[in-house]
Amino acid sequence: MIHDILIWPDPRLREVSQPVTAFDADLKKLADDMFETMYAAKGVGLAAPQIGILKRVVVIDTTSQDQDLTPQVLVNPVITLKEGSQIFKEGCLSVPDEAENVERAVKVAVRAFDLSGKEFTLETDGTLLAVALQHELEHLDGGLFVDHLSSLKRGLIKRRMVRLKEAKRREANSANKE
Ligand code: NI
Repeated sequence: MIHDILIWPDPRLREVSQPVTAFDADLKKLADDMFETMYAAKGVGLAAPQIGILKRVVVIDTTSQDQDLTPQVLVNPVITLKEGSQIFKEGCLSVPDEAENVERAVKVAVRAFDLSGKEFTLETDGTLLAVALQHELEHLDGGLFVDHLSSLKRGLIKRRMVRLKEAKRREANSANKE
């Protein structure tokens, strides 16, 4: 099922998400829905809070850039290593049609659980996956890539997002009246 993606500013995107405690069919369904929603929106990563579900679950698919990788589901992920720095032009499905340079670590290691509750470690160096991991995990603690920008830039983007949401609301209202 494809979910609506929350657009910043939205208070739910600023919440700290809760750890997953049950590795059950509902969790598998959530991961399936997140992949479906992410692919429909042509994104490479999505965190559960972006669809209004405040759980520590992230999906990432950077296989178009890194052929040797597979799509990843990370449950209760924690970054255990960060090294170096790189600048990468990032976007976010919750901040549509915006892209800005953000400084992140080059090398990251993440410890997480899979859908069956098995712990694993993912380590990557200088890839889109490294950027995506840092970006998506930030969502679980209420962070967004715009937090890395100057307040001037963030303010401009915020105004564009508010206008975008008003336009969407008007569109939905007029569709309801037909
Ligand atoms: Ni994002």
